[in-house]
Amino acid sequence: MGVGLLFTLLVILAEILGLLIVSLMVVLTNKYFGGYAWDGSEKQFNLHPILMVAGFLFFYGNSVLLYKIGAGISVSKFKIKMAHFLLHLLAFVCSVVGLVAVFQYHNAQGFGNARSLHSWMGLGTVVFYGSQLVLGFLFFLYPRPREEIRAAVKPVHVFFGIFLLGMICVSVLTGLTEKILFTDQGFDELSPVVIVTNIFAIAVVFFAGIVTYIVTSSKFSALTLSRYDQLN
Ligand code: HEM
Ligand code: HEM
Repeated sequence: MGVGLLFTLLVILAEILGLLIVSLMVVLTNKYFGGYAWDGSEKQFNLHPILMVAGFLFFYGNSVLLYKIGAGISVSKFKIKMAHFLLHLLAFVCSVVGLVAVFQYHNAQGFGNARSLHSWMGLGTVVFYGSQLVLGFLFFLYPRPREEIRAAVKPVHVFFGIFLLGMICVSVLTGLTEKILFTDQGFDELSPVVIVTNIFAIAVVFFAGIVTYIVTSSKFSALTLSRYDQLN
């Protein structure tokens, strides 16, 4: 199979999985956990997983894949870089609103904050993500130091970008496990909610695997390098 065809198929698969992940989270929060509101209740909590998953998996994934998709269709690197930045910014804004939703809900219900493994992993992920966003902006957009510095920073930026995806998966999966354990049935039976949860988790793991493969495989780096001749 040609590299171009393999790339196209993997991107389509990543997009399908990304949409499936968001849809399954809508099914879980809307059908099984009770819907949405901004009133300090369980319904406010439900906005937390939706915003985290849409931002940190769907928008994150698209932002990262854009570099290689853009090279394939010969869009200028500056436009791709701006879109990469704006999608990450959107993901970060979603995550901040998602955190406000859960912290306000906890305070309204009188629950303690930042005790669970999930909350520590989650806070770490958001702080790390914010730092990557600021550093990415400073190094690649403005003030954008000279080429040798950017060339040295780029692999570090890519490595931590993918490392972040690992942290995101840990946060999403610990959060969902915790949520199911909080329900009356928990994981006692293979109920519809548990089945949807488990399918969601498998989709998350495969989505992360495909995105990581596309970003790190030397097959596809040639695709980017051949089109982008300058280091931006
Ligand atoms: C990358 C994605 C996620 C991040 C960064 C994240 C982050 C956080 C943080 C920082 C808290 C602590 C709030 C507090 O202490 O008041 C929290 C709470 C919570 N999150 Fe998430 N979350 C993510 C995804 C999810 C998902 C997908 C679910 C699934 C339902 C979920 C379920 C929960 C639950 C049940 C709590 C309340 C209990 C606790 O504090 O551990 N989270 N989340
Ligand atoms: C949390 C925010 C960010 C994350 C998680 C992230 C992640 C990544 C990842 C994984 C790649 C590798 C893409 C590939 O090689 O296919 C990448 C590349 C890149 N990112 Fe980011 N990024 C973030 C923010 C930014 C920002 C704000 C900028 C500045 C505009 C930026 C500029 C770049 C550049 C210039 C590349 C190199 C593309 C190339 O030449 O191959 N990133 N980023």
